[in-house]
Amino acid sequence: MADTLTLTITADILASEADLTPAETATWQAAQAATATSHSPYSHFQVGAALLLDDGTVFGGSNQENAAYPSGLCAERTALFGLAVSQPQRRIVGMAVAARPTGGDFGPANPCGACRQVMAEYEQRQEQPIPLLLPGPDGSIYRFPSLSALLPFGFSADDLPKLK
Ligand code: THU
Repeated sequence: MADTLTLTITADILASEADLTPAETATWQAAQAATATSHSPYSHFQVGAALLLDDGTVFGGSNQENAAYPSGLCAERTALFGLAVSQPQRRIVGMAVAARPTGGDFGPANPCGACRQVMAEYEQRQEQPIPLLLPGPDGSIYRFPSLSALLPFGFSADDLPKLK
């Protein structure tokens, strides 16, 4: 029989927002607040992302859709790219994502594959794990230890041949 490779993703399960640290609470609430800036007239699905920075401030992003559908961008990437161009000196020490249908309640907000790829690279660039908060069922919150934890067996710069 062949040997097997098993990849696991592990997260803490927090019962509610009351179990977050004050900095995590600010990040969590900023992600929810950022849904208000979503431009999502096509999907009617508002996504917000928040990045906790090493100076204690929080930087937000939201999904920005376009009539030419593939031209839009997810909340996670507007946040990361926006921060990278506006405050490149800052380190990210936490991240949270929130989502809700327009006018509806907050629900699951699992980052898509393309966002996981980008999230992993920003974490790798700063050589420091970035904990991630995502909604779980019934008001619970998942706390992942790092962004790359969401993308086991992912492609990275380490997979590219080294150019001289
Ligand atoms: N969306 C995000 O903003 N983040 C994700 O990780 C998943 C999907 C957005 C893209 C699009 O504007 C809407 O949600 C529906 O797919």
